[in-house]
Amino acid sequence: IPTQIFADSKEASNAVAREIADLIRQKQKEGKKCVLGLATGSSPKTVYAILVRMHKEEGLSFKNVISFNLDEYYQMEPDSIYSYHRFMKEQLFDHVDIAKENYFLPDGTVPPALLRDYCTSYENKINAVGGLDFQLLGIGGNGHIGFNEPGSLINSRTRLITLDHSTRVAAGMEFGGLHNVPRKAITLGVAPILNARRIVLLAWGERKASVIRGAVEGPVTELNPASYLQAHPDVSFVVDESAASELT
Ligand code: F6R
Repeated sequence: IPTQIFADSKEASNAVAREIADLIRQKQKEGKKCVLGLATGSSPKTVYAILVRMHKEEGLSFKNVISFNLDEYYQMEPDSIYSYHRFMKEQLFDHVDIAKENYFLPDGTVPPALLRDYCTSYENKINAVGGLDFQLLGIGGNGHIGFNEPGSLINSRTRLITLDHSTRVAAGMEFGGLHNVPRKAITLGVAPILNARRIVLLAWGERKASVIRGAVEGPVTELNPASYLQAHPDVSFVVDESAASELT
């Protein structure tokens, strides 16, 4: 997996925001939609902040952008302070000119009996607009991408998943305690992630160093779902020096 190592996450985020902005503008020139797959969590925050600045200062427009987020907790109301809907609005959507009907996140309120069909329809919607041009990813300390926890298969589809204990512990701070963290989430599967034409995975800090090493240099294994990205023809890991510190 090609790895781009930057001195710090700020510089790295600049490069990634630049790539996304270039893609949006290029698609605009061609009169086409730009279909983005987006992630939440701490890793992409600066990328979103830079895109917002580019919108305000450089006239970068999101009018031709359609976006699909990777995941949402289940069950979760979209207007909850803990929801990924809320996160995306606060970090990006409320500050740029993307149309409300052009961004999608999994719906954490779908009744259990309808979930299977709902997950299929979420993927169908991505395919109906031509598939993902670009997928932004973070990585869990356990190797998860989206919420495809260890054990997820390379051909896994969009589905309800039970979160790993370590994933819930990592989220515990934001939720004000582990007991508040949902046990489940809806996640885009590994297969639809790998279908994106371009993938960029972000990782900052020492706590990601060993899982980054495993994903880049280790075997392709369900024990580290990010290792599935080794099979992708156009993927980059964009990391800071600490996250790169265990690479040989
Ligand atoms: C978020 C997501 C997760 C995070 C991962 C890393 O939408 O899909 O895979 O990217 O848990 O989270 P941070 O960036 O907070 O370390």
